[in-house]
Amino acid sequence: MTMDSVDVTVSEKLAGAWRQHPVLLRGAAQHLLGSQRSYEWFDELLARTAGVPGVDVHRRDGEVTFIEQASLGDGELAARAAAVARIAGVPSAWCDVIRTYVKSGIGSHFDHSDNLVIQQQGVKSWRLSPPDSLSKDTVVARYRGDEGVGGAEIDPSTVIEYDLEPGDVMYIPLMWIHEGVGQTDDSLSISIVCPVVTAYTAVMAGVAAALRQIDALHRPLEPMASWMEDGARERAEQRLALVTGKVLEKLTESSSQEYMAQVQRRRYLS
Ligand SMILES: [Fe+2]
Repeated sequence: MTMDSVDVTVSEKLAGAWRQHPVLLRGAAQHLLGSQRSYEWFDELLARTAGVPGVDVHRRDGEVTFIEQASLGDGELAARAAAVARIAGVPSAWCDVIRTYVKSGIGSHFDHSDNLVIQQQGVKSWRLSPPDSLSKDTVVARYRGDEGVGGAEIDPSTVIEYDLEPGDVMYIPLMWIHEGVGQTDDSLSISIVCPVVTAYTAVMAGVAAALRQIDALHRPLEPMASWMEDGARERAEQRLALVTGKVLEKLTESSSQEYMAQVQRRRYLS
């Protein structure tokens, strides 16, 4: 494979499972990542990505080290993630890298992203269950990005179990509850994370871009200072309400809607 494409068989298997159910692709890691990464590679990556903007390192000393968005500091991982983003039709994807030193896990949870877990070293046991057991409010809160939402128990009546060995790939669909526990002390895995695009994200991007085009909005608001007399403050508030109303009206015009659709197509749909 080249770095701008994903092996056809892997693509087909992912297409059959995407947003439907998890899938285990034995030995497919090479198709997504090329060579198998070693613990030495991880140590070198950790040193190289230290201080790179956007890369976050979370660690429990002697247990686990998690490099979030490691692909921001590694061109090849970035290219591999971009290849997956292209076939999945998402605007971007990144790689997290997880190294364990004891048989640990981070507890069962669900993510608002589609994830490909690519085992590189060691063995991990995974349990997954569909999002049906989550309440509607919880699902909305997760998509909205509310703090502290994401933990959930696996539903034992619908659980799917996989053991991931070096070279294996597991697809976890959006919002599926999952938990991975090491079977070996040492392990290394790379996750390709495809964050969800919600209708809110796409609508807001179109609206923001359209508003940016309106010259009349790029001026200071009248002051609301404490020393202003009440009448002046009230008039300023009324003028802001009027402008807001006019702008919302303008957004309903067909020229604005075409512009917003163009922005959305460019960012999220092509
Ligand atoms: Fe996760």
